[in-house]
Amino acid sequence: MLKYSYLALALVLAAAVCVNLAFSEASGKYIGNKQCLMCRKTVVKQQYLFDHWATTKHAKATENLPADKKADPECLQCHSTGFGKPGGMTVEMAKTATPLMANVQCEGCHGPGEAHKTAPKEKKAETMNKPTKETCIVCHTETHPGGDVPGWKKFNYEEDSKTVAHPKAPDAK
Ligand code: HEC
Ligand code: HEC
Ligand code: HEC
Repeated sequence: MLKYSYLALALVLAAAVCVNLAFSEASGKYIGNKQCLMCRKTVVKQQYLFDHWATTKHAKATENLPADKKADPECLQCHSTGFGKPGGMTVEMAKTATPLMANVQCEGCHGPGEAHKTAPKEKKAETMNKPTKETCIVCHTETHPGGDVPGWKKFNYEEDSKTVAHPKAPDAK
């Protein structure tokens, strides 16, 4: 009997590995919006994604913290990119004038960009996370940590994803 349960377990694990391969998954270090832009502007002509992102509050998430909280680890977990992860925001970096990992950048939703950057063209899509509701609610929790702040709203995935959804390419039909 025991032998069969091991076999069953092995099959479940094998299936899990296969399923996992079908999903996009980012890995490696966080690299920062500047590097994302470098390629997206010149190679794939997607400057418009950055222009739109800049109009959302994600692009102000660190700036909007009160002066005495801009390098507070309690706040940076959600109000910056990749906090505490390789290449991501650190308390030291947050104390510099223009921290590379300030605000909720592309990688804040799509995951670390290192593997994506170095991947060959045919692997670009699978080295980038496809954000879902689960991605958002890591930061958009039921209540705001540390209590209510003016400007905080309870998360509503259907409505809120419209606000931040990427626009179509300007020349798309
Ligand atoms: C679990 C994630 C999380 C943590 C931790 C967190 N925040 Fe926030 N905060 C959010 C989210 C999400 C919003 C925006 C919600 C919305 O408007 O839809 C927000 C909004 C805010 C705003 C309003 C910004 C504006 O647009 O006016 C302020 C100010 C703020 N937070 C301060 C803080 C401070 C200070 C800390 C640390 C003590 C902190 N937050 C910690 C997730 C977090
Ligand atoms: C608030 C989270 C969030 C941020 C920040 C964000 N995105 Fe996205 N992005 C999404 C979601 C959600 C989708 C749709 C995923 C899907 O197709 O299921 C998406 C889709 C995409 C796609 C299409 C991917 C595909 O395979 O369909 C590209 C390209 C993209 N984003 C680039 C960017 C760039 C560049 C930035 C930074 C300027 C950025 N994103 C910032 C949430 C985000
Ligand atoms: C890394 C943390 C993080 C993730 C992941 C994240 N957000 Fe946010 N989001 C924030 C913070 C912090 C703010 C508040 C910024 C501010 O007001 O200064 C915010 C603000 C917003 C706002 C108000 C923006 C505006 O321009 O009015 C919307 C809407 C929103 N997020 C939707 C989403 C959606 C949808 C997702 C998932 C696809 C998502 N967010 C993922 C942290 C995050």
